[in-house]
Amino acid sequence: MAQLGGWRTGQRRAHAPDCMASIVQRLSDRDAYAVVSWLASQPVPADARPAAARGALPGDAADLKCGTAPAPGAAR
Ligand code: HEM
Repeated sequence: MAQLGGWRTGQRRAHAPDCMASIVQRLSDRDAYAVVSWLASQPVPADARPAAARGALPGDAADLKCGTAPAPGAAR
């Protein structure tokens, strides 16, 4: 909730296009609480570790461009 709140208030920002700011502005308090509650209730896998690289996004999401997230396969 703190992360989402930071984007909502503008305390947290990313390079344009700031996808997360756009997303959070569309969430009601109730939406945000539902997402956060669901996420917090998920078990952490025993072998959890960072992904080596972001995988390709499915369908239309593959065309999304976000300021701080390079397109799948692009060099960092
Ligand atoms: C309700 C749906 C979503 C939730 C709850 C959510 C939540 C979050 C959270 C908590 C982070 C911070 C991760 C961290 O700092 O470690 C994050 C980062 C990010 N999300 Fe989302 N996200 C959602 C949907 C989306 C969508 C649809 C997009 C793309 C269009 C997106 C693009 C990004 C990007 C690019 C970042 C990194 C921003 C940065 O560089 O600071 N998110 N998201």
